[in-house]
Amino acid sequence: ALFVKVDQETCIGCGACGEVAPEIFDYDEEGISFSLLDMNAGAVPVPENLVDDLEDARDECPTSSIKVEEEPFEVEDEAV
Ligand code: F3S
Repeated sequence: ALFVKVDQETCIGCGACGEVAPEIFDYDEEGISFSLLDMNAGAVPVPENLVDDLEDARDECPTSSIKVEEEPFEVEDEAV
C-alpha cells in the first residue's frame, strides 16, 4: 500500500494536487494542501482506485511537496 503526506513547509498552495486528485487533497484556510484521507497524518493507506491520481499529483507538484511512501509516516509532524 502507499501512504501520502503533504510537506506543508514547502507547499506553495499552487492547487495542482487538488485539481488532479480531489479525493485525496484539500486546502486549509491558508491554501496549503493536506491529505484528506487522514488529515495529513500519512497513516491511512491510499485506496487502490486513487493511486493513479496520487502519482499524477506527486509528479505535477512544482515543489515536490507530496511525499509518497510504502510505509506509514511517523507521527512527528503536526497534523493540520
Ligand atoms: Fe502544494 Fe504541491 Fe499541491 S505546491 S498545493 S502540494 S501540487
